[in-house]
Amino acid sequence: MRIKPARRLSGRCQLPGDKSISHRAAVIAALAQGTSHISNFSTSQDCAATLSCLRSLGVSLERQGNKVTVEGAGLGGLHPPAGPLDCGNSGTTMRLLAGVLAAQDFPTILTGDDSLRLRPMKRIIEPLQRMGAGILSLDGRPPLQITGSRTLKAISYALPVPSAQVKSCVLLAGLQTDGRTEVIERNISTRDHTERMMQWFGVSMETGSHSDQAEARICAVNGPANFSAREVRVPGDFSAAAFFIAAAALIARSEIEIEAVGLNPTRTQFLDTLRALGAQIEIGSKRDESNEPVGSIRVNGSNLRETVEKELSLTISGPLSAALIDELPLLAVIGSQLPAGLIVRDARELRFKETDRIAATAKNLKTMGAAVEEFEDGLRVVGAAHLKGTAIESFGDHRIAMAFGVAALLADGESEIKGSECVAVSFPGFFEELESLVER
Ligand code: S3P
Repeated sequence: MRIKPARRLSGRCQLPGDKSISHRAAVIAALAQGTSHISNFSTSQDCAATLSCLRSLGVSLERQGNKVTVEGAGLGGLHPPAGPLDCGNSGTTMRLLAGVLAAQDFPTILTGDDSLRLRPMKRIIEPLQRMGAGILSLDGRPPLQITGSRTLKAISYALPVPSAQVKSCVLLAGLQTDGRTEVIERNISTRDHTERMMQWFGVSMETGSHSDQAEARICAVNGPANFSAREVRVPGDFSAAAFFIAAAALIARSEIEIEAVGLNPTRTQFLDTLRALGAQIEIGSKRDESNEPVGSIRVNGSNLRETVEKELSLTISGPLSAALIDELPLLAVIGSQLPAGLIVRDARELRFKETDRIAATAKNLKTMGAAVEEFEDGLRVVGAAHLKGTAIESFGDHRIAMAFGVAALLADGESEIKGSECVAVSFPGFFEELESLVER
């Protein structure tokens, strides 16, 4: 993909359905009784992988564009697949399905592409083994060979890493188990789409703060929980919107509106961070859809490159790094444009995403002419960089390709993003949609 610098962005757009919410809608609908209709389902390859695995487990589902109809199999209604289940590039597919499969009375194998087969799975193996499932792996990495059991033990589990995927995995296993399964999150609350989707389907859940530790959040499910099909409308993907918001906030005189975006507070820290820098961002038409907050986001050319005060340096660390985990490569690009730059710490998890996102971000920013210091758990980007258009690697990682698609709009001269087709993992058509707002 070749990208030329932009003079400004203007116009309106609607983005594909949220990837995290689409995975959950499909998986929970598959365990429900009856027929669920899901609209605005994510167009991502990741969510297509989830649908294809569910089909292999005997779930009857039909897809027409962004509409998906799922005939729920009910708890205990899945069938042994003919072979290994291929999760493609999708960590969410693998970790959520592992929770579902741990409670089946047939064995399964979960595998994926070269990137997914390098990603850490001990974080789900450990709690599922505690519940009584048998799981073999290649030293904590996929493929996972799961020997499930219909009589798993309900557990209380304090998350050792802040991960919504691990929380969801344990809750999905707990849903099918006899007793109360609880997950405790200390200090950091990860995205809560699983809890919201389970509640939308009528599962009774307890959520709130821990009685002994005010700073800890707890969510619990009482299994086995039988529940019925529902209509679900998936909001636009906030993590996709972030790229458009960043471009419009950085480039002078831009004016864009993104309609019907998910505004779940566990996802929107990025808006608060940009607002703290002075970005003009307004929310309109706020409402709830399928138990998720939704609204439109308007960004008025804040020209952050010029307006941020010289001394204002941005440091992202502690719980903020977890809340911004998917936006950190993009924030590093933004940081290169701020007068005093950006520091990210406590973000070691970024090294275990679709690629090592700390190394990939540092490498690309340096290639474009920015000064970057890499730490084991983050990076420091020197600000006020004049990015130069050049050839940039995607490292096969959709969020790296999209973050540097934004950087290319800010650069002097044309850039080329190599392997840009990987954006289809979360957002096929990303570059075309971005281009439709760009004026030169
Ligand atoms: C996701 C959770 C996050 C996020 C990923 C999607 C989810 O991963 O980075 O893009 O849908 O639950 P972790 O749970 O590993 O932090």
